[in-house]
Amino acid sequence: MVFLNGKMLPIEEANISVLDRGFLLGDGVYEVIPAYGGKLFRLQQHLQRLQNSLDAIRISNPYTGAEWEQILNDLIAQDSSLDQSVYLQVTRGAAAKRDHAFPDKVTPTVFAMCNPIPAVAETLLQQGIAAVCLDDIRWQRCDIKAITLLANAMLRQQAHDEGAAEAILISAGYALEGAASNLFIVDAGKIITPPKSSHLLPGVTRDLVLELAAQHQLQHVEQAIPKQQLEQADEIWMTSSTKEILPVTTLDQRPVGDGKPGPTWKKMIEYFSLYKQQLRTGQH
Ligand code: PDD
Repeated sequence: MVFLNGKMLPIEEANISVLDRGFLLGDGVYEVIPAYGGKLFRLQQHLQRLQNSLDAIRISNPYTGAEWEQILNDLIAQDSSLDQSVYLQVTRGAAAKRDHAFPDKVTPTVFAMCNPIPAVAETLLQQGIAAVCLDDIRWQRCDIKAITLLANAMLRQQAHDEGAAEAILISAGYALEGAASNLFIVDAGKIITPPKSSHLLPGVTRDLVLELAAQHQLQHVEQAIPKQQLEQADEIWMTSSTKEILPVTTLDQRPVGDGKPGPTWKKMIEYFSLYKQQLRTGQH
């Protein structure tokens, strides 16, 4: 069952108008929220980011925080034994005719569904992933979690075409984030991630990694990462709701550090797993 405009219904029966501005113009925003053992991960932070995205494109939030919580919990309750990720999106809705400017009176379209999160393959955790550096061809408001993801999809596909799992996006000589993930490096024992700006998505996983680093007294800083520093880093990690924290062990066909997941990543993934375990048992 999926959620569409106030109703739970089978996915085959969930239909929207072809005039929906999400369909015609990509005029909408979204969130992806993991749920571990039926418990939503950092719900307030995800709902706050949704609010920021909606504010940025002038759509009023169709639901209160409590209403969102109810909707998302109803979805994951279908099988709370599984780890799941909830996808939700709000588009501006269907106007009478196609026109770029925001129409006056439209009702937003709200859609949400959940999918199992496949466990991250053991080989990935043992061996890490390959990434390639690509020019960031996206727009100037990457802080908005917009459904308009053509550039991200093209970049991810180019990475796949080159035998890599993720693209690391470079703009004006600096590494910003992945096509669908945030970026961390470890350099001389220090964990570094670029500061929040309109050039990258403020990742919820990213913020938790910084919190865990502080809690466990690991040196960390939010600082711009020149491409050259990325290329010489001892460790590179990519973070996201669905992939958690993946070690990058090959960058542009060259090994990162000694070509294996690094010691700081090993610590961080342990702290992260502990956090998830505590969430399952209601401690967060
Ligand atoms: N994407 N940067 C980009 C461009 C992203 O698309 C994502 C997540 C992130 C990581 O954010 P978070 O930790 O809050 O998931 C960073 C989701 C998972 C997606 O598009 O499916």
